[in-house]
Amino acid sequence: MSTTLITGGTVVSATGRAAADVLIDGETIRAVLEPGSHLLGTDVAASVDRVVDATGKYVIPGGIDAHTHMQLPFGGTEASDTFETGTRAAAHGGTTSIIDFAVQTYGQRIEDGLAAWHEKAAGNCAIDYAFHQIVGDVNEASLATLRKLPDEGITSFKMFMAYPGVFYSDDAQILKAMQVSRDTGMLTMMHAENGPAIDVLAQQLVDAGNTDPYYHGIARAWEMEEEATHRAIMLAKLTGAPLYVVHVSAKQAVEQLAWARDKGQNVFGETCPQYLYLSLEDQLGASGPEWGSFEGAKWVCSTPLRSRAEGHQHSMWQALRTNDLQMVSTDHCPFCMKDQKELGLGDFRKIPNGIGSIEHRMDLMYQGVVTGEITLERWVELTSTTPARMFGLYGRKGVIQPGADADIVVYDPNGHTSIGLGKTHHMNMDYSAWEGYEIDGKVDTVLSRGKVIVDGDEYLGAKGDGRFLKRGLSQYLI
Ligand code: URP
Ligand code: ZN
Ligand code: ZN
Ligand code: ZN
Repeated sequence: MSTTLITGGTVVSATGRAAADVLIDGETIRAVLEPGSHLLGTDVAASVDRVVDATGKYVIPGGIDAHTHMQLPFGGTEASDTFETGTRAAAHGGTTSIIDFAVQTYGQRIEDGLAAWHEKAAGNCAIDYAFHQIVGDVNEASLATLRKLPDEGITSFKMFMAYPGVFYSDDAQILKAMQVSRDTGMLTMMHAENGPAIDVLAQQLVDAGNTDPYYHGIARAWEMEEEATHRAIMLAKLTGAPLYVVHVSAKQAVEQLAWARDKGQNVFGETCPQYLYLSLEDQLGASGPEWGSFEGAKWVCSTPLRSRAEGHQHSMWQALRTNDLQMVSTDHCPFCMKDQKELGLGDFRKIPNGIGSIEHRMDLMYQGVVTGEITLERWVELTSTTPARMFGLYGRKGVIQPGADADIVVYDPNGHTSIGLGKTHHMNMDYSAWEGYEIDGKVDTVLSRGKVIVDGDEYLGAKGDGRFLKRGLSQYLI
């Protein structure tokens, strides 16, 4: 087995930073050593197979993106990144594990939906991957199957209070699934928006001739997110289910989460880079030379981008600092403008919902360190350590310590990253939602289970490097 020493860097964890060398033996971390130290009387640097020079750089646990949708059939098309292209882009951006959503569609058995997802991913991933289960059809059979999923390493499931006729579950169905969550310890993940009410507002907007992407954000008012978040919290309280609310974008939804947490309820929340940086005014309402007032389709996602004037973005950063929100995932769900987003020309309801960000999450969150929104340690915590703990991967992932998988990113705070299509992102998209964003930092080297898969801008990994991760129960629950 080959050995690697990452030397000269500052190892950053969720709780601190220190100058240290990291010794890797095969796929795992063997030791975290004092800089330049000698192990058992030998000069470590002289005896290893490879030395990675991290002088002046940060050495952090590889990013874990706990919310991705590779190849998701949605909105009459399919998310444009395959497991191959999406995980390769993730690797370039310093993410070394993803948790994707296996889908059970209406009328389908969970077993079949899950098997199909394994088939899509197996042998195709650049980095390790795990699954949550989307439950799109709550019935007696699917509830029985759900109970058995922890045996297969799937310890969380997602339900939708939005998208009637697609993934939607009503309160009765949610209640029943949450009872399974309570009994098994599986985490209930919730898309919290009042879908039926949103659909009425959307229909009325279209009837009045308001068909541009901007109105996607008007129809999906923050009141619809606040209300659904509250309802999910109360159903979780009633049943005793642990609850994790995905892609939180409204400050009022955060207030609901904080309120429940302050009462001691096991309620958690994530936000995504788009809700920290982008807005209803600047992006959803954008006009451009190529697409005119349809430009905003690039940023149609749900929950939607929120008004900057109302201060949601500011509240999301604040909640990340105060731990009212615990994690940042991407909700990576890319669609091209051509032939995909275009489906919604003349009717915003037909624009496939989703934004691609998997490659930029670590950078975009690092920029929050640069601008003073979060600390360096919090950056690691939000993007790696908490995702690992939340979803039962901690120890193996999310930490640099002996025995952990050697998933490590060397990050250069003196580097610079210009994001955008012209700067060749690796996601399978014909535009970038992040065109023009400048990051004062750069992913330098990425190791996945001890193998250098990204060196500078060069990809050294291979399709199939990534393995399926069986997860344990959330390590946030007693
Ligand atoms: O717009 C989004 N978020 N698309 C992906 C599906 C979901 O709701 O997470
Ligand atoms: Zn969702
Ligand atoms: Zn999603
Ligand atoms: Zn700069």
